[in-house]
Amino acid sequence: MASRLATSLAGIPLRNPVLAASGTFGYGREYAGLVPPACLGAVITKGTSLEPWPGNPPPRTVETVAGMLNAIGLENPGLAHLVEEDLPWLQSQGATVIVNVVGRCVDEYVEMAAALDRRREVAGLELNISCPNVDKGGMAFGSHPETAYALVRAVRRRTRLPLLVKLSPNVTDIVRVAERVRDAGADGLSAINTLVGMAIDLDSRRPVLGNVTGGLSGPAIKPVALAAVWRLAAVGLPVLGMGGIWDWRDAAEFLMAGAAAVAVGTATFARPRAMLEIVAGLEEYLECRGLKNVSELVGEANPTFRASG
Ligand SMILES: Cc1cc2nc3c(=O)[nH]c(=O)nc-3n(C[C@H](O)[C@H](O)[C@H](O)COP(=O)(O)O)c2cc1C
Repeated sequence: MASRLATSLAGIPLRNPVLAASGTFGYGREYAGLVPPACLGAVITKGTSLEPWPGNPPPRTVETVAGMLNAIGLENPGLAHLVEEDLPWLQSQGATVIVNVVGRCVDEYVEMAAALDRRREVAGLELNISCPNVDKGGMAFGSHPETAYALVRAVRRRTRLPLLVKLSPNVTDIVRVAERVRDAGADGLSAINTLVGMAIDLDSRRPVLGNVTGGLSGPAIKPVALAAVWRLAAVGLPVLGMGGIWDWRDAAEFLMAGAAAVAVGTATFARPRAMLEIVAGLEEYLECRGLKNVSELVGEANPTFRASG
């Protein structure tokens, strides 16, 4: 019997709809003893650039009520390391891999996409145009519908891989950005990245984070993320929903709002096996409701999705 959880996202076949969110699972190696990467829908890698990036000065994280702030600044070992070390390892583990791509300018994104286009180990790309913690690149591209359009269009010309574009909630109208990303040829939307926030240390009387501001994630942002996914369901592209998913109930809400699949980030820091618990919880829920496949949940609560889907 076909698995109830087997599904697809923007043309990428998935064992189940639960993915590791970029930057919260590294390249999978550190978690392998607890979370076999083949048990996930897919591993979305840490944001990766052409050359290694050093990231921001410490402190880079701080806990908040119901979440955390991070200002890692996209530290990563670069494309060569990804290709020579991480992709072969992930493939040896049977993982489905989506590479999260970052760059400081359009050409860097394009070069990354072209270099990964022919690699069998890569199932798709997720363009990060929404990181709030870097000066150049990241959110600078995702904050304006037309710069987002130009970037996605340039990348689209250089790759046939399924292209997800990760959107920022730190904009006036996320739907407008999504529509231009769709017009530029994206295959799917990832939503949401973190919300800009900060914390101040009462002893030093200075901002806690070395970068002053950081990105808020975890349960605190779930209602914001869910509303974004709900609205994005009308754009007509499959949505990978994320932001504050803590357990299978949260995941089911995102699916019912219109997400084709979900990604889990901060919960993994608190409960390393959270993603596997969510997979098991969804499976049981589908069985109890007598549903044959998880796709029957997608958009169930959202009339806009049902109208456009
Ligand atoms: C420590 C940390 C590092 C992150 N790094 C990246 C990254 O490299 N690229 C990216 O697109 N998103 C990155 N994110 C954002 C997450 O992928 C996700 O969009 C966000 O945290 C919301 O999901 P969550 O509340 O389940 O963590 C990072 C988040 C955290 C907490």
